[in-house]
Amino acid sequence: MRKRTLLSMAMVATMALATFTGCGGSREGASTTDTAADTATQTEEAASSESTSSLTGFEEGATIGVSLPWLGTQNWKEAEEMFTAQLEEAGYKPLVQAADNKVTQQQQQIESMIENGAKVIVVGPVDGSQLGSVLEQAKEAGVYVIGYDRLLENTTGVDGVVQFGSVKTGELQAEALLQGLEEKKGEAPYNIELFGGGPADPNAPNFFKGAMSVLQPKIDDGTLVVVSGQTDFTQCATVDWDNAKAQSRMDSLISGFYSDKEIDGVLSPNDGIARAIITSCENAGQEIPVVSGLDAENESVEWVWSGRQYSTVAKPTQDLVAKTIEIIDSLQAGNGMPATDVTANNGVIDVNIYELPPVVVTKDNAKSVFAGDPSRLELLK
Ligand code: BGC
Repeated sequence: MRKRTLLSMAMVATMALATFTGCGGSREGASTTDTAADTATQTEEAASSESTSSLTGFEEGATIGVSLPWLGTQNWKEAEEMFTAQLEEAGYKPLVQAADNKVTQQQQQIESMIENGAKVIVVGPVDGSQLGSVLEQAKEAGVYVIGYDRLLENTTGVDGVVQFGSVKTGELQAEALLQGLEEKKGEAPYNIELFGGGPADPNAPNFFKGAMSVLQPKIDDGTLVVVSGQTDFTQCATVDWDNAKAQSRMDSLISGFYSDKEIDGVLSPNDGIARAIITSCENAGQEIPVVSGLDAENESVEWVWSGRQYSTVAKPTQDLVAKTIEIIDSLQAGNGMPATDVTANNGVIDVNIYELPPVVVTKDNAKSVFAGDPSRLELLK
């Protein structure tokens, strides 16, 4: 009872703060404007979502579910290993599963985590908007739901999302592309092509949006020429983040538009797709273009170091996992979700975002970015 009163007081204080700050910060993925009415709605919803969950914490040693979308890129494999080891170390019983990019498989895995008595379920969705009812089911059962790396869309069944700024990530990718073009490809104009990530992943349109906010003015003033003319996200997206699909699109772009031209640069949304693009260019006898990336995957860190890939963006899995476990600890102790001043509208509610900063990596700054990451530092030889 006492805890409940203290908590409501804390909530009132948080609400006051939220109203005072206008829930500031970036609103990535947001589709509404930040008005007082929005803020009020969010506050009511936050309150009601708190009240459906246990406010008194839960037992040490509780089951914690972690549902990952797939294990196709290094960051998700790292997340699987780190959650398993570190949740156990923190005294919980981890139930970590990956869904092979299949929505139904992920829904079933989450259902079984609820049945297994998970107190918190951490979710990196295959498709941001397809988990609404199973997550609402989790909330009704008193389970906390934390989005991991990707936004959980169109559902009230979410308590918060831990992620790296996704619009910011796209901006960094595009800025690195421009910088690389100036450094490596002489005078403008530069011939470029654009790639996006998997359309079901809420990050992918945000990465693209951030990148286009930097590139569009340069396309408009003639510095950049998208020779294929394909500049819409839907034309550039890579279904399921599948590297092979990206490689075959790059093959077609080269044969269709570059038989008599050099391609100077390519916007790539992550490292796997960057390597597929570079391989396609090499196979076609093109000089390697300037290519961006994301994830600081080991292989791409080596390619950045050797000059084969121009840049990547580091979003350390260890930081994301540590932040998530910090939130789980707060919930376990009965302290609820920590305060944050960043929110994003998920189509239904404004969701609290626990946002970490992504960092661009080129050959020039790689040693300093990875100074605290011995396994990546090791690759810079
Ligand atoms: C993650 C990236 C990853 C991509 C494909 C995105 O949501 O943020 O780190 O490369 O999914 O797995």
